[in-house]
Amino acid sequence: ALCQQVDTLLAQMTLEEKIGQMNQVAGSRDTTGAPANTEIEADVRTGRVGSVFNAFGVEFTRELQRQAVEHSRLGIPLLFGYDIIHGFRTIFPIPLAQAASWHMEGIERAARIMAVEGAASGVHWTFAPMVDVARDPRWGRVMEGAGEDTHLTSLIARAQVRGIQGSDPGATDTLAACVKHYAAYGAVEAGREYNTVDMSEWRLRSIYLPPFLAALSEGCASVMTAFNTLNALPATCHPLLLDQILRREWCFEGMVVTDYTAIMELEQHGVAADASEASRRAVNASVDMDMQSGYFIDTLKALVQSGQVEEARIDEAVRRILWLKAALGLFEDPYRYADEAREAQCLLTLEHRRAAREQAAESMVLLKNDGHVLPLGDHHRKIALIGPLGNTPRLIGSWHGNGDHDDTVTLREGLANRLGEDAVILYAEGASNQIGENDTSGIEEALELVRQADAVVLALGEDEADADEAASRADTGLPGAQLELARRVLAEAGDTPVATVLFNGRPLTLTELDDLAPAIVEAWWPGTEAGNAVADVLFGDVNPSGKLPMSFPVNAGQIPIYYNAFNTGRPKGVDPKYASQYLDIPNAPLYPFGFGLSYTTFEYGELETACSEIGLDDTLEVRLALTNTGDVEGTEVVQLYLQDVHASVVRPLRELKDFQRLRLSPGECREVVFHVTPEMRRFLNAELERVQEPGLFRVKIGSCSESGEEIEFRVV
Ligand code: IFM
Repeated sequence: ALCQQVDTLLAQMTLEEKIGQMNQVAGSRDTTGAPANTEIEADVRTGRVGSVFNAFGVEFTRELQRQAVEHSRLGIPLLFGYDIIHGFRTIFPIPLAQAASWHMEGIERAARIMAVEGAASGVHWTFAPMVDVARDPRWGRVMEGAGEDTHLTSLIARAQVRGIQGSDPGATDTLAACVKHYAAYGAVEAGREYNTVDMSEWRLRSIYLPPFLAALSEGCASVMTAFNTLNALPATCHPLLLDQILRREWCFEGMVVTDYTAIMELEQHGVAADASEASRRAVNASVDMDMQSGYFIDTLKALVQSGQVEEARIDEAVRRILWLKAALGLFEDPYRYADEAREAQCLLTLEHRRAAREQAAESMVLLKNDGHVLPLGDHHRKIALIGPLGNTPRLIGSWHGNGDHDDTVTLREGLANRLGEDAVILYAEGASNQIGENDTSGIEEALELVRQADAVVLALGEDEADADEAASRADTGLPGAQLELARRVLAEAGDTPVATVLFNGRPLTLTELDDLAPAIVEAWWPGTEAGNAVADVLFGDVNPSGKLPMSFPVNAGQIPIYYNAFNTGRPKGVDPKYASQYLDIPNAPLYPFGFGLSYTTFEYGELETACSEIGLDDTLEVRLALTNTGDVEGTEVVQLYLQDVHASVVRPLRELKDFQRLRLSPGECREVVFHVTPEMRRFLNAELERVQEPGLFRVKIGSCSESGEEIEFRVV
C-alpha cells in the first residue's frame, strides 16, 4: 500500500518537483526562534526542498511543515533531519566513551532516549550512528565512533539502530537512522581531517565496511556518504561503494544522502569541472539527496533533458525519499512529531538524567590505581580540585545536539553533591587546556591548595572543541601547560592521595603522566551528568568497568596503532637488529585495546574444551572459571580473541570475536562459556571470498587484548 501511495504521488510530480525532493537545505533559527533564512520558506512553498536539516523544536518545524503542506502544489511533507549523536537535550557520554562500556543494552537505551527526545522536538531523522572504524587518535572524529575494532563497532551500530528506530519505525517516539560516513572516513591519512584514503579492497571489506552492513541488517533507514576519497575517487561519487556494494551486493533500497556540500566538493577534489558534472557523477553513482550543495536543484533538470541522467534514476531516488516519509507516517499526519505537550514533558527528565549518569559511570576506564588510591573515602573532607576541567560545564563533548552547558553538572558540583555541605572543595584551574596556551603562572596557586587538602583531584584533558569534525591534532598529548601542572601537583602532594581524571575525546599520549600519577581515570566527555558520574566512580559508589575501545599509544610516532595487526616476517624479539621495531620506543601501546582496571580483581581460570579438533561446520565450546578475588562487587568484560595461525592470506595476531559483561560479588566464581562458531573463523581470502580454512587456531580469553589464557585447536 505504501509503494502504491508513493507511486501515485510520483506520477503526479513534475521533474522540478522530483528534483526538489532530492534537495536538502540547512534551516537555522535566529535568536528569537524564527527561521533565520526566509528564503527556505519560499523554496519550500515552490516545492524546491525535500528535507531540512538542523531543524528542531516543535514550533519551528510545525511552521516550516505548514509551508510545505499547505502551500506547495502537492503538499508533500518535509523531512526534518538533525545530528542527534549522543543525546538531544539529555547528553550521554560521547560515542567513544559509550563504546568503552561494552554494554550493548546501555548503548541501545541511550539511543532510545535520544530518539524519544528528538522525536518529541519535531525531528524525524538523525544522522547517526557513526560507524567509522578509526585507528588514528589524531583524527578528531574518533570521539564520534566506537573505536578501532570492527566487531565491537558492528555490535554497537546494531544497538544504536535498534535504539534510534525502535521496534516500530512509524512510532512517533522513534527516528529514522542514517549510518555514516560511507566509507572508510576513519582512515584519513595522517589523521588529518577530510584527507585522502587509500587502501586495499581487502582491508576495506574486512575492517571498514562490516559495521555499515551491520547497521543496515538492523534495518537502518538511510546512509550518508563520506567526505574522503577512497582509492582516488571521492566516496560521494564512488560506483564501487555505492552502486556495486551498497545497492547490488547488499541490496540496500533506502535513501543515500551526501555529507554537507560533498557534491560541491567534487570540484575541489578535481573530479568535476563544474556543478553539472559534480551532480551527474553523484546522482549516477546512486546518491539520492544532496545535502546543502544546491547542485541537484541547479543542474539535474538540464542533465535529464540532455540525457546525461535518466529520469528513471531521478524517479528511483525520489521514490526512496517518499518511502521514508511514508514510513514515518508523514503522509497520514505531517505534524505527528510536532506536539508541544510532548516536547515539554520529554526533555531532560529525571529518568533520562539517571540513565545518562549510569552510562557515564560505566563508560569510565580506570587506567591506573597504584596503592589503591581509589576509591577515595568519606573521610576525605577537604579536596583540592585542580585543573582546567574541574569547574567547567564543557564536559558534554562535541556533537552534543541541543544539549545545554547550563544543564551540565561540573566536576566541582558533582563532588559537592557527593560530599555534602560540611566538606570543603578548594578549586584552582592551575593551567589552561587550550592548545598553545602554555602559561604556568597559575600553578603556584594550585600548589597552595594541594598543601591544604587531604585528597587531590586533578582534572585534565582536552577542550570539547578539540576532538570534533575538523579538529585533528598532531600532538596527542595533554594540551597547554597541563603536564607541567601535573608534574608539580604530584610532586607537591607527597603522601596526599591524588586522583587524576581525564576528560577527552581521543586516546591521548599519556606516557609521562602514567609514570608520575598513581591513579588515573579516563572519564572521556561524560555528558550532562558528568560531575555526578565522576564522583560516583571516584568514591566507589560505582566500581569502574570500562574497557578501552582504542589503543592508547606510548608515543604519537606509533600511530596508526591497533591491536589486531598482522605479524611481520621479522617480528620483534627474533633478531635483535633486523626486526620490525622502533629504536627508541616499544611497539606495544601504553594501554592496549580492551584494557581497564577495577576496584576488585578477577582471576581467570584455565580454558577448557571438550576436544582439540573439530570439523569445518562445528562450533567449539570453550569454558573457564572467572572469580572475583577482591572484596567488592565488580563487573568484568571477559574478551575472547581468535587467531587463525596459518591461512592462505595473512591473518591478524588476534581478533575480538566475542565478549561477556559479567557482574560478580566478592568471592563469587562463575563458569563462563563461549562458542567459537564457523562464522567467527571466516575471513576474506585473496579473491575477496568469505571462507573458512582448516588449520590451527588459538583462542585467548582475558581481560584485555594483551592478556589472558590461551588454548589451541585445529579445524579439519
Ligand atoms: O551529519 C553531519 C556529518 O557527520 C558531518 N558534516 C555535517 C553533517 C550534518 O550536520
